Amino acid sequence: MAFTVAIDGPAAAGKGTISRAVAEHFGFAHLDTGLLYRAVGQRTLAGEDATEAARALRPDDLEHPDLRTAEAAQAASRVAAIPEVRAALLDFQRAFARRMGGAVLDGRDIGTVICPDAEIKIYVTADDQTRAGRRHKELIERGRDITLAQVLTDLRDRDARDSARAAAPLKPAEDALLLDTSEMTVDQAVARAIALIEARQ
Ligand code: DC
Repeated sequence: MAFTVAIDGPAAAGKGTISRAVAEHFGFAHLDTGLLYRAVGQRTLAGEDATEAARALRPDDLEHPDLRTAEAAQAASRVAAIPEVRAALLDFQRAFARRMGGAVLDGRDIGTVICPDAEIKIYVTADDQTRAGRRHKELIERGRDITLAQVLTDLRDRDARDSARAAAPLKPAEDALLLDTSEMTVDQAVARAIALIEARQ
């Protein structure tokens, strides 16, 4: 049976962690759609045209070692504003969402554009200081040399660009359930998401 869990929200809200845990709990497949935009962004940093890169995207591109860097994140946010790039990535995401056995997709427009008929939509958010603190810790643990102030600026830039763009802007779907993780531990946030999904099954 197909069952789609759509998880959206701003940068570093905990979508990835929650999505992976939820997918594992229910035995669903998981797609981090941000990686698609990061992979396209990465190819533009190497000089390629964004739309051509999106049309030619291959599974190997998702394995690029630099996709989690702050530069790749900014490049992703820039290419994500181009309608042709979004269009090139649409069919793959929709097919993934409807695969048998259930799927969790996390991104910015899953509940609004990619899967408007998802069985459940969760909008994960947290205040920006909390999000910046979490992302900073993650980057430092991975050996990156970046200040908290820089992470906060990058995150605000990205959220502003992702929310203001005309093509599939970041916003909660009207029927999305809000999950604010500012005051939650990872375990609490995951447990809450699982409870929300169980209530829909
Ligand atoms: O989730 P992330 O931080 O890896 O996403 C990187 C960028 O990709 C984000 O700033 C905006 C874009 N993105 C998007 O526009 N739509 C999605 N479904 C996922 C990501």
